Amino acid sequence: MEQYVIKGGSPLVGEVEIGGAKNAALGILAASIMTDETVLIENVPDVRDIKVMMQAMESIGVIIQHIDRHTVKINGRNINSQVVDGDYIKRIRASYYLIGALLGKYKSAEVTLPGGCNIGTRPIDQHLKGFRALGAKDAGVVGGGMIVAHADELKGAHIYLDMVTVGATINLMLAAVMAEGQTIIENAAKEPHVVDVANFLNCMGANIKGAGTDVIRIRGVQSLHGTEYTIIPDQIEAGTFMFAAAVTKGDVTVKNVIPKHLESISAKLMEIGCEIEESDDAVRVVATKRPLHTHVKTLPYPGFPTDMQPQITVALGLAEGTSIVTESIFENRFKYVDELTRMGASIKVESSTAIIEGVSRYTGASITAPDLRAGAALVIAGLAADGYTVVDDIRYIERGYEDFDVKLRNLGAMIEKVEDDRGIQKFKLKVG
Ligand code: EPZ
Repeated sequence: MEQYVIKGGSPLVGEVEIGGAKNAALGILAASIMTDETVLIENVPDVRDIKVMMQAMESIGVIIQHIDRHTVKINGRNINSQVVDGDYIKRIRASYYLIGALLGKYKSAEVTLPGGCNIGTRPIDQHLKGFRALGAKDAGVVGGGMIVAHADELKGAHIYLDMVTVGATINLMLAAVMAEGQTIIENAAKEPHVVDVANFLNCMGANIKGAGTDVIRIRGVQSLHGTEYTIIPDQIEAGTFMFAAAVTKGDVTVKNVIPKHLESISAKLMEIGCEIEESDDAVRVVATKRPLHTHVKTLPYPGFPTDMQPQITVALGLAEGTSIVTESIFENRFKYVDELTRMGASIKVESSTAIIEGVSRYTGASITAPDLRAGAALVIAGLAADGYTVVDDIRYIERGYEDFDVKLRNLGAMIEKVEDDRGIQKFKLKVG
């Protein structure tokens, strides 16, 4: 099984290009099958979750042509089944977007219940409630774990989400774009990727207004058509490199980003003592000293993202004084703390709160990535640690970060992907 081996201690310096947003791409790929015409999508990240999503689409007859590493042409004309089945689909959460897309296009969808990162119970009641409101009366989970939704007709509805949910907001937009009449989604998620999916659907001929606010209004249209679209940059990939700069006392410019999407991340970095310089499509992070302590609570956008919680915890673990991190989105997102403790961190978790007594240094250790973002955060810890760190289960990290090790190496990090102990020994001999 592949691992990352890291020798810590080098400040990250230089520029890094950020790829397309994984979580926008997953929604956009699902949306692309809703027309019989061809859609061209650019800036698609080459990561594992996207590959699984494409595999699921191909399994029902979608034709996907890879133009280059980040550009695909998609045609959903020959879809021959509305049933997406198979164990592999459980590997990604966003497979449930195929319910919204197939229901919206064919009024019928059956998709294996999704898996994804194990960061909490992750119910889908809000998705199902919305599908039912739109006319899929049977929407629910049946048998051995299939989500089903069938409708004679889809009619616009007024849907009030009980909590802010990215997944349900996107899924209900997909299901509603071709429903008859008007749909209003209240308490909608405002994340940049929700807006990106809405913009993409509008380019396909949909009529969606208000994405990016908490009320989204959708007027159903008869059909959608082909288009060309470029996915927005990945807010979380950018934020991860920004924290990597902070933790290694580096100087990194993240390029090809939308600085507005990074404001909550930049604000926290400034609070902990980093300098931030923004330009039109880049943000530079300069860190010269040990981080300062602070408090942070994860919140839906524009709040501090839950997907950045492990990364900021790693930084605050090295801050002088006591910091408090409160997780308000997913109840099970501190699993990596045990691993960080093995590297010398002093963190106590009490339900959804981590109380962090900063230490002056981490020590390299053999650790396991428990999920995607925590895995990336542990790599960052390894970059700042004394000695060698080996991170197992990097398949989690590869679900959402393209060429993570290559990009870090280009910034001066000593990190390599290896297959076994021999690889680790070779790396140690090389870096000394
Ligand atoms: C999306 O997950 C992202 N995944 C997650 O990113 C991200 O952490 C999360 O949004 C929050 O920003 C994708 O976009 C594929 P939610 P999602 O629906 O849509 C509860 C990553 O690392 N809820 O916004 O599954 C839920 O339990 C991943 O890239 C219900 O109770 O999250 C959670 O507490 C990990 N019922 C909260 O809402 C529902 O029907 C927010 O979940 C739906 C959600």
